[in-house]
Amino acid sequence: MSADHANTSLPPGARPDWTIDQGWDRYTAAEHEVWITLYERQAALLPGRACDAFLKGLDALDLHRTGIPDFARINEELRRLTGWTVVAVPGLVPDEVFFEHLANRRFPAGQFVRKPDELDYLQEPDIFHDVFGHVPMLTDPVFADYMQAYGEGGLRALGRGQLHNLARLYWYTVEFGLLETPQGLRIYGAGIVSSRSESIFALDDPSPNRLGFDLERVMRTPYRIDDFQQVYFVVPSLQALLDATLADFDALYRRLQAASDIPIDAVLAEDKVFTRGDQTYVLRGGRSAA
Ligand code: PHE
Ligand code: FE
Repeated sequence: MSADHANTSLPPGARPDWTIDQGWDRYTAAEHEVWITLYERQAALLPGRACDAFLKGLDALDLHRTGIPDFARINEELRRLTGWTVVAVPGLVPDEVFFEHLANRRFPAGQFVRKPDELDYLQEPDIFHDVFGHVPMLTDPVFADYMQAYGEGGLRALGRGQLHNLARLYWYTVEFGLLETPQGLRIYGAGIVSSRSESIFALDDPSPNRLGFDLERVMRTPYRIDDFQQVYFVVPSLQALLDATLADFDALYRRLQAASDIPIDAVLAEDKVFTRGDQTYVLRGGRSAA
């Protein structure tokens, strides 16, 4: 799920672009069971919580049928819908490799599946987070363009030493984004939809702030990698998100170099407030108290 895609050396057996064969035939029955358990939990929970684009994508890709999905099968439909494909990687890949794939409409997905005793929390994104969480949104034409643009922007930011701020944009949109709809707030972030507890927390809990998305504001806000978010940012539409990021970021990066970070739990006078959180979850000690 991470926006920081680790930096180690090429694992044995991986191609120079870090991809590997998915090796679908080698998944065990127990591994397929883990996928099915997670799938069924989330599929039951997400109607009325996930945005329509996600639910539609989930349906279109028919991710359930065979347990852990075979990327070759997903890719037929995904390629047809938006020109994206999923490629298998051993785990986190270096930033440059990650962005290069996105810029070419390839989504690198972890090949491995979590263990049955880590259904709810894991350090490294596995195939369930990467495929169930990320791939349905890639069937949406606007989001598909956003992800490609992010990859291109990532390559540029890397060259300019600005990844720090850009990573926050990924975090608060691709991983933990919320969408405003006439029916209420809906989830589009992969880190939320792939987690049962955060799918509830992000929408229902009184603790976090839920604030209107503002590009510069988001890029000045640090994030939590070890626990539920203290703030979620709400976009009015996926098109508005894409439009907000179309301009060249060079001027923005220059401003950000002089700007300070905004405390993670702050609500500013200029924020559009959907929910002012009471931060009780954090004040009680968060995950470590649970
Ligand atoms: N417009 C950004 C730039 O000039 C690229 C980008 C697009 C970044 C979409 C993130 C998301 O760098
Ligand atoms: Fe992710």
